[in-house]
Amino acid sequence: MREDARDAALRVNEERLWQRHAEMAQIGAIPGNGVNRAALSKEDIAARKLLLSWAAQRKFTVSTDAIGNLFVRRAGADANAAPIMTGSHMDTQPRGGRFDGIYGVLAGFEALEAMDEAGVTTRRPVEVVAWTNEEGGRFAPCTMGSMVFTGARALADVLDVTDNEGVRLRDALAETLAATPHAAQREFKSPAAGYIEAHIEQGPLLENARKTIGVVSGIQGLRWFNIEVFGKTDHAGTTPLALRKDAVRDAIAIINAIAELAHDPADVTRFTVGRMLVTPNSPNSVASHVLFSVDLRHPDPKIVARLGAAVEPLARAAAKFCEVKVTPTLHDDPCVFDADVTAAVEAAARELDLPHMRLSSGASHDAMYMARVCPTGMIFVPCEKGISHNEAENASPADLAAGARVLTAALIELANR
Ligand code: GLV
Ligand code: MN
Ligand code: MN
Repeated sequence: MREDARDAALRVNEERLWQRHAEMAQIGAIPGNGVNRAALSKEDIAARKLLLSWAAQRKFTVSTDAIGNLFVRRAGADANAAPIMTGSHMDTQPRGGRFDGIYGVLAGFEALEAMDEAGVTTRRPVEVVAWTNEEGGRFAPCTMGSMVFTGARALADVLDVTDNEGVRLRDALAETLAATPHAAQREFKSPAAGYIEAHIEQGPLLENARKTIGVVSGIQGLRWFNIEVFGKTDHAGTTPLALRKDAVRDAIAIINAIAELAHDPADVTRFTVGRMLVTPNSPNSVASHVLFSVDLRHPDPKIVARLGAAVEPLARAAAKFCEVKVTPTLHDDPCVFDADVTAAVEAAARELDLPHMRLSSGASHDAMYMARVCPTGMIFVPCEKGISHNEAENASPADLAAGARVLTAALIELANR
C-alpha cells in the first residue's frame, strides 16, 4: 500500500465518525432509535445543511445538480482530471435506521478529512456525493438521483411523481434546491473516473462469518411495478357480492398470483408488496381503487426477465371484477462490479489487516447506476443481526471506522491512477 494511503487510513477518527452518525440521527429521529428522513423533506434539507456546514469548515467545494444530488469535493493536483467519487444517500425509509445510506456519506466525508489531516495530495479530486431519493419510500422509484445523474432516466420523467399525500416531486425538489442556494450548478453525466460506495451490509453474512469488511462483487436484479385496480365504491351492508367491483378483493387475488409466480423453494427470489393505498379506505365502503407496489428481485438476469414479463398478464388474469393498470417503475438488471476497483478494495482490507470476504448485495444501491458509467465497487461493514429498514438497525463504531479506513486507502489508490 502507498505510504500516504496507509497514513490517511489510520487517521480515520472513529469517535468523530460515530458522533456524526449521532448528530445526523437526531434529524428525523423516531422512537426506538430510528430515523424517518424522507427524500426532499424538511429533515432531508436539515441533513444537507449539516453536511454543508462541515464541508465549509474544511473549505471543500460543493455543487448540486438539477435533481438535488449534493457533491462535496476535495481538490486534487490536477484540477481538470475527472474525480474519484464515493458516497451514498441521506434519505431513509419511513421506519429506517441510523446507518442505511448516511454511513456511506459520512464514511466518504471522514475519508476526505483524514486525507486533509494526513496532508495527502491526490492527482484526481475526490468527491463525496449524497444522492437524492435512494430509498424511493416517498417518491418511487428508488435510486432516483443516480439514475437521473447517469442519464438512465430523464429528469422530466420523474418530476410529476407524487407521494402518498399528493405532493409532487417537482415542488419538494424546488424547495430543497432553494435551501442550498450557494452550491455551484453541476451538470448531469459529468465525468467520474471511479466510484466506491460504503454501506452497512443489511444482511447477516459478515456478522456470521466474523468478517469486518465485505468486498462487494455486485448487486442482484430488481423489478418494480405500480399496480392499480379500478373498482366501484358501494355500501358494505347492502350491495350483494355479485354486484360489486371490489378493488381490494381483486388486489388480493393479484398479489396471491404473483406470490405463486415468485415461489422459490431455494428462497432466492424476493417478492414484496410494501405499499398499498386503498380508496376510500373505510370499513363499510367497498374499495373503489387500490394502488400497490411490487418489488421482485433475483441475482440471475434471465429470472428477473421472466418474473418481470409475467406480472402484467398474471395481474390481468387474476382480476375478476375490476380494470387493472400495471405500470413498470424500475428495471435494474443484476450488476457486476469492476474487477480493478474490487481488487483495490480487497487489497486495502488485506493490507490494513482487516478480516474480509467477497459477497454480493441483496439490497439496491446507487452504485448500480454508477457502474454503468465508470469503474465501480462497494464496501460493506457488518450490521447487527443483519437488521435493516428497521429502527433497530445497528453497527459498531469500530466496524464503521474500519470500513472508512478501507475506503480512504482505496480512494487514494484510485485517485492517483
Ligand atoms: C434500497 O433500500 C433497496 O430497496 O434495496
Ligand atoms: Mn441504502
Ligand atoms: Mn435502504
